[in-house]
Amino acid sequence: MDKIVINGGNRLKGKVKISGAKNSALPILASTLLAPGVSVIRNVPGLRDVDTMMRILRSLGARISRRHTEIVVDTTDVRSFTAPYELVSTMRASICVLGPLLGRFGKANVSHPGGCVIGPRPIDLHIKGLRKLGAEITIERGYIVARAGELKGSEIFLGGAFGSTVLGTANCMMAASLAKGVTTIENAACEPEIVDLAAFLGKMGARIEGAGTHMVRIEGVNELKGAEHTIIPDRIEAGTYMIAGAITEGDILIEGAIFEHLQAAVDKLEEAGVRILREGNGIKVDVENGLKAIDVTTMPYPGFPTDMQAQILTLMLVTDGISIITERIYPDRFMHVSELLRMGASIIREGSRLVVKGGANLSGAPVMASDLRASASLVLAGLVAEGETEVSRVYHLDRGYERIDEKLRGLGADIKRIKS
Ligand code: EPU
Repeated sequence: MDKIVINGGNRLKGKVKISGAKNSALPILASTLLAPGVSVIRNVPGLRDVDTMMRILRSLGARISRRHTEIVVDTTDVRSFTAPYELVSTMRASICVLGPLLGRFGKANVSHPGGCVIGPRPIDLHIKGLRKLGAEITIERGYIVARAGELKGSEIFLGGAFGSTVLGTANCMMAASLAKGVTTIENAACEPEIVDLAAFLGKMGARIEGAGTHMVRIEGVNELKGAEHTIIPDRIEAGTYMIAGAITEGDILIEGAIFEHLQAAVDKLEEAGVRILREGNGIKVDVENGLKAIDVTTMPYPGFPTDMQAQILTLMLVTDGISIITERIYPDRFMHVSELLRMGASIIREGSRLVVKGGANLSGAPVMASDLRASASLVLAGLVAEGETEVSRVYHLDRGYERIDEKLRGLGADIKRIKS
């Protein structure tokens, strides 16, 4: 297994280019299943999760080719509607083939994704929404077995204890696009990735209004066709580099980052003393007068994203003062904490809250990545720690960050990947 070795202390400077958004690419690739024909998806990041989605689509009968960041999917010969355990168990986002398979074939067998290291991850809202469209859904031998004679438009409410659901909204939007009549999704997720999916579905011939608000209206159509689309830039990757620039008191330009997608992060970083400017086609980050403690609560979009919680923690470690994190989406998403403690961090956990005493001198250590965003926080901590940090189990990082070692090296970090 590859390792990443970082010698901390370098100030980051220069430009970094943001890749396409993982969390847009995955449901958009899945949605190509809705129609027979060829779709061309551009700006697709080179990530392990994207490879997994391509394997799932191939296992269903799709033909796929990839040239750099462009993926061509031909779904004409898709005959299977079973997404197997071996693939789904490696990536929870595989659940987003459920809606398109049900929409196109009236049947889908998708392995139940279960929980994951960031905590329990129920799919009750996906099931509730698809049942409202007329699907019969049972759980059999670890599989979600969904059947529908004809899907019918309906009124769906997608609220749960932790707010809406991103992939649940995606699944309902995709299935409802081929349902008879009008569907409304209330309390829909508003994430930019949902807007991007709706844009692609629109190009396929779907009639969707309101994506990006809490009320999405879908008028079902009889058929969809393949389409071409360019994936939006990854706001979480951009936010991670913003934090890398901030904690190293660097001066970096994050090319391609969309400011409007990052307002909660911009707001918190500014409060911490980071100077953030829109510049050309990107965001410029630098620090003039040191960093201050901040409090952050994760929330659904447009709130501060849970997918940046682990990374903003590293900023809290290098500021003077007490900071607090409240995790409102995944109350147990704190695997990074014990590894950061090994680097000298001072963090107390109280339920879904972290109290962080900043200003400690972090010291490099061998640490182990346990999930994607946790891994990113360990790399960030390594950038500011004294001496050498060795992050193992880098495959987690490769699920969601395209060439992170190369990109950070381009900004002046002393970082290398050791291939096993
Ligand atoms: N939830 C339910 N019932 C459901 C579905 C979700 O109670 O049926 C709860 C979850 O347990 C959680 C909250 O609702 O507390 C939000 O979960 P959501 O369904 O929105 O998550 P997701 O769609 O499975 C996507 C991203 C995650 C990101 C979350 C929240 C993709 C592929 N994944 O997951 O990204 O954390 O939204 O923003 O889009 C990551 O990229 O590292 C990552 C984990």
